Amino acid sequence: MSAPLLELTNVSRHFGGVRAVQNVSARIEAGEIVGLIGPNGAGKTTLVNVITGAHRATGGEIHFMGERVTNQKPYQAARRGLSRTFQIVQPFPSMTVRENVAAGALFAGKAISRRAAMDAAEAHLNFVGLGKLVDAPASTLTLPNRKRLELAKSLAMRPRMLLLDEVNAGLNLSEIDEALRLIREIAAQGVTIIIIEHLMKVVLGLSQRILVLHHGELTAEGAPEDILEDERVIEAYLGDRFAKRRQGAQS
Ligand SMILES: Nc1ncnc2c1ncn2[C@@H]1O[C@H](COP(=O)(O)OP(=O)(O)OP(=O)(O)O)[C@@H](O)[C@H]1O
Ligand SMILES: [Mg+2]
Repeated sequence: MSAPLLELTNVSRHFGGVRAVQNVSARIEAGEIVGLIGPNGAGKTTLVNVITGAHRATGGEIHFMGERVTNQKPYQAARRGLSRTFQIVQPFPSMTVRENVAAGALFAGKAISRRAAMDAAEAHLNFVGLGKLVDAPASTLTLPNRKRLELAKSLAMRPRMLLLDEVNAGLNLSEIDEALRLIREIAAQGVTIIIIEHLMKVVLGLSQRILVLHHGELTAEGAPEDILEDERVIEAYLGDRFAKRRQGAQS
C-alpha cells in the first residue's frame, strides 16, 4: 500500500491536565475530502494546530508525503503545501484585502516577488468572489467576506492539502451554497481537504469520509451515512434533535 498524503500516528496534545488531543491515528489519502466533526472542545482546532505546526505535539508522529514533519514550523508546513484557515479570522487590518492574500503567498514561498504575489492574490480573490474589494482595507470586511479572504489567503499558498476550520460559520444559506461550490471546485483542482464544520448540511454534502473527535479521541470514522447511524456519534454530538428527525423519517 502506498503512503497516504497525511498520516497521524498516536498524535496527542495536552495543555497541563487537559488532554485536548489524545492518541489520534488517521490516514488521509490524496484527493479525499474528509470531514472532522465533534462537540465544542473536542480537540478539532487543536489537531489542526498540531498538524500545521502552530502547536507542538505532546506525543506521536506526523508524516506528510512520506516525510516526518512532527513539530514543523508553520512556515515549513505552508511551504510543504499544508495550509489551513483559522477559525478566528485575523487579517492584517491596515493592509488591503489584496495585500493580505499576497502575504500568504510570500509566507509559503509560492511567489518570487511582491509583484507576482499581488497578481496571484487578485486571481484568488476573484475566485472567492472578493474581486471588487481587492483594494479595501481588510478591517472593513464583513464576517462572511473575512471568511472568503481567509480562504483566498490559504489558496495563495498553493496547498496540496487544505485544512478548513469552520470556514462557513456565520454564513447564510445562499452563502453556504456558494461556499460548497467553491470547496468542490478547489477539490476538483486536486487539493485534498479536511473540513471542520458544525453545519451537517456542509459536512454531509462534501465529505467522502468523516472522522469524529470526542474528548480528544477519535471515536468514530466512516462514510457519512454510517456516521449518521452511529449511536455513539448521535449521543455525543448529533443529539436528540437529529435522532428524532431520523425516527420521524423512518415512521
Ligand atoms: N492554547 C490552549 N491552552 C489551553 N487549553 C487549550 C488551548 N487550546 C485549546 N485548549 C483546550 O483544548 C480543548 C480542545 O479545544 P479545541 O479548540 O481544539 O476544540 P474544538 O473541537 O476546536 O472546539 P470548537 O468546536 O468549539 O471550535 C478544550 O478543552 C480547550 O479548552
Ligand atoms: Mg475549533
